[in-house]
Amino acid sequence: MTTIGIIGAGRIGSNVARAAIRAGYDVLISNSRGPATLADLVEELGPHATAVTAEDAAKGAHMVLVAVPLEKIRELPRRALAHKIVIDANNYYPQRDGRIQALDANLSTTSELLQDLIPDAIVVKAFNNIFAAEIPQDGKPAGASNRRALPIAGDDSSAKHMVSSFLDVLGYDVVDVGPLSESWRVERGTPAYTKRTTKRELEFILPTVERVQQV
Ligand SMILES: NC(=O)c1ccc[n+]([C@@H]2O[C@H](COP(=O)([O-])OP(=O)(O)OC[C@H]3O[C@@H](n4cnc5c(N)ncnc54)[C@H](OP(=O)(O)O)[C@@H]3O)[C@@H](O)[C@H]2O)c1
Repeated sequence: MTTIGIIGAGRIGSNVARAAIRAGYDVLISNSRGPATLADLVEELGPHATAVTAEDAAKGAHMVLVAVPLEKIRELPRRALAHKIVIDANNYYPQRDGRIQALDANLSTTSELLQDLIPDAIVVKAFNNIFAAEIPQDGKPAGASNRRALPIAGDDSSAKHMVSSFLDVLGYDVVDVGPLSESWRVERGTPAYTKRTTKRELEFILPTVERVQQV
């Protein structure tokens, strides 16, 4: 698999595109306003990037990054995402997304909300725990000392394996947090959130995390 679909061409989408292209992937990248508005970005990204609609980004790749504000996930091309591995970078910011009762009450996680919207897709949480600009900067070859680790979560082990391989190629170790229902351990406000950690450090922190009320 050499093509990554990207829905959301902002800070996360564009920086994953930069890192993926550098690692040898092609990207299909999209936003809400249409491919023509991405002309400058695809010119900067070069010939391995193509601006498309969100629907075509979903249709054209087996693995599709969703990097839109959480409140926008209802607008995703749900049918085109069926049977795809959907990498979920989203976080909950009530000031931006409005209050979401299921998250405020700790009855769900951001990734479970997305999975519920696209039940035929296979959601894997990743990239929510790193500042966007660091994605193309912090990667190191496998085995390098102090290699940064990123957490993933998901309910499907083969999808998690594919996302882990992608992260490894981009330069990151991976720590599996468990199923989507456990992904609160790396959501906003938790101790490891956006921290640069090695695999060993992240593995040490995650079991100690306590679930707190969203504010
Ligand atoms: N920024 C970070 O460092 C960071 C780190 C980790 C996780 N995150 C999370 O990742 C998600 C994206 O954050 P971001 O900072 O990349 O946001 P951003 O810079 O505001 O970019 C959002 C992108 O989503 C697109 N979009 C909105 N609605 C869409 C739709 N219906 N279909 C297709 N594209 C749509 C926007 O396109 P238009 O401009 O055309 O509307 C824009 O390209 C958020 O949940 C955020 O919390 C961000």
